[in-house]
Amino acid sequence: MIRVDEKNNVFFLDTENTSYGIAIVEDRYIEHLYYGAKLKDTDVRYLLREDEPPFTPRVNKRETGSFLDCAPMEYPEAGMGDYREGALCVRSEQGYRASELVYEGYETFRGKPQLEGLPATWGNESDCSTLKIICRDRLLNMKVTLLYSVFEGADAVIRSVLIENEGKEPFYIEKVLSACLDMDDRNFEMISLVGSWARERHIQRMPLTYGRHNVASFKGNSSHQEHPFMALVTPETTQNVGEVYAMNFVYSGNFIAQAEKSQFDSVRMTMGLHPEGFTWKLEPGERFTAPEVVMVYSDEGLGKMTRTYHDLYRNHLIRSPYLHKKRPILINNWEATYFDFDEKKLLEIAKEASELGIEMLVMDDGWFGKRSSDDSSLGDWYVNEEKIKGGLHNLVENVGELGMKFGIWVEPEMISPESELFREHPDWAIQIPGRDITQSRAQYMLDLSRDEVADFVYEMIADILKSADISYVKWDMNRQMATLGSAALPADRQGELAHRYILGVYRMQERLINDFPDLLLENCASGGGRFDPGMLYYSPQIWCSDDTDAVERLAIQEGTAMIYPVSSIGAHVSICPNHTVGRNTPFETRGDVALLGTFGYELDITRLSRDEKEQVKEQVKKYHKYNDLIREGDYYRLASAADNMYYDSWMIVEKDKSRALLFYVQVRARANAKSRFLRLAGLDAEKRYVINGKEYDGSLLMQAGVRISSESGDFRSKVIEIVKA
Ligand code: GLA
Repeated sequence: MIRVDEKNNVFFLDTENTSYGIAIVEDRYIEHLYYGAKLKDTDVRYLLREDEPPFTPRVNKRETGSFLDCAPMEYPEAGMGDYREGALCVRSEQGYRASELVYEGYETFRGKPQLEGLPATWGNESDCSTLKIICRDRLLNMKVTLLYSVFEGADAVIRSVLIENEGKEPFYIEKVLSACLDMDDRNFEMISLVGSWARERHIQRMPLTYGRHNVASFKGNSSHQEHPFMALVTPETTQNVGEVYAMNFVYSGNFIAQAEKSQFDSVRMTMGLHPEGFTWKLEPGERFTAPEVVMVYSDEGLGKMTRTYHDLYRNHLIRSPYLHKKRPILINNWEATYFDFDEKKLLEIAKEASELGIEMLVMDDGWFGKRSSDDSSLGDWYVNEEKIKGGLHNLVENVGELGMKFGIWVEPEMISPESELFREHPDWAIQIPGRDITQSRAQYMLDLSRDEVADFVYEMIADILKSADISYVKWDMNRQMATLGSAALPADRQGELAHRYILGVYRMQERLINDFPDLLLENCASGGGRFDPGMLYYSPQIWCSDDTDAVERLAIQEGTAMIYPVSSIGAHVSICPNHTVGRNTPFETRGDVALLGTFGYELDITRLSRDEKEQVKEQVKKYHKYNDLIREGDYYRLASAADNMYYDSWMIVEKDKSRALLFYVQVRARANAKSRFLRLAGLDAEKRYVINGKEYDGSLLMQAGVRISSESGDFRSKVIEIVKA
């Protein structure tokens, strides 16, 4: 709900438990008033400290600079005297860098506008409302619209920005962030997600000291290394208590998320497109839309923040028809064969898999062009019939006869120097004329800022998908950007390439899901290099990491599930010793860990022992029994092996609290250890529950806990069902 108090010149965006307040000062400055637990009053202008030095410019013009550098701003601009991080920096045709946004008016309405060409949360008149604050820089005649939306039943505020050139000359946007939040410091600590290839999204927490602290990517994707997420939390914050201010960016390319503690002990938290290398020329009549940021406030710890994101993304971001469906259990041949396979090998895998209850075969990298290693053929999207004898249609039919669906791997955004496509269109690769193109995994990136390039590649892929009954696509992306240049952009638009590239990817994926509405799409980027809300708008699941080791996955999935619904996490059982870390873990544990996700296999199933095959059957049963609950339920994190070294635990609780699953992984055995009481979460304290045939009070289970015995041996897992009596 949106409340406008015209007398006090304030706006409030209310959700069930939170309020976000904005004030207009001196009829021109748009100041941030409040964000936190729900407020009833709107008469709260004292929060602006308008009567404290340095006063506002009307009262004390000689200190306008001091005012600008300490007032809490909704959308601070660079160049006028606010030396904290600016959200907007615009360069005029004459080369001056400054803008002054003056408030012009507002609009409120039910529903939420679409963001041109961008993924975004969606809703209609019955479930959300929007506030537009309109302001203008008079000199540039630049209209800036700050957009804020709130959804019924979600404690989130969603922000984006629209910039329009209503003047007679072009100007250049050098920086445009999407959200800014100014607050007084409360000894905040900063939480971010960091990692590397095969080690994505580990949770990092540190005190917020003076200065600027950021996580960012200017690698062209949202990246393995840092993540478009940041939370500021009060020091006592745990899963259940403490205040959390979080931001998550609905975007898949370059970003910056930053927290800055100023000389006045205020904190500015910002998020948006990374300005490094970015300049966007806006001609008269043109407009630019910045991607949106989803802000969540919780005063019940990180767990509440997590569940807010999960519900919002399941209800208002992911669009796939598969979102609320059990996904077919798949088997992927990558870790089974790498590039060394033919149709016979795939059929052997499919046959064995189908007998054990697996429902779909996914043919990974290596089926096209002359690709027998990662040295060649990206861009040559036709079937290699030396490998797939009899052709794709035939293979898919044979797999179908086994009662299985068929899925395929593609990497449409790339081009190998060693490919027919590159020989024909060398200018289609992103490059700087006269310089060597930096290679990564022996590949270049296609210039998807050019529609003709994106369309050509899209149509090749679409032809493949039309040539056989293909149910699933794994859309991969295996390198990061460098040597940025586009043969199609003029000199003063080269700074648009990285963003235009991402817009090109979005356009291709939009076409794909429209042209093939029944397709199950899984995004991937060397594992989890582009696991972000932008991609979730197109695909209901994303391959979480190339690291399939059950223990490594605990930390990766914990970080990922801190924001993203469990139903979106691509997770497979693979072989031991694990190909990435060489670790041996019990087959059962690998299955239990992969249940916290889409669930599937990635191994040579023909080589499993009889005992392991029996375990596959059990795991398949477990998946069918519990996936509805895991996919749709509420997620509670109980313990983190990353913190305690010994055990990891989480729960999924049915929305009506009638049933729950407790997952427990003993990561390290401990000598001479007693059993431990693990306090459950999310149950109904007034109800009784049955665990292994014995009844307990919900409150008892949450206050005192269930007893978990200590076992001998590392990496032992348990999945315990809890049912209302
Ligand atoms: C990436 C993916 C893997 C696999 C390979 C194929 O690394 O993350 O799952 O598909 O590419 O080359």
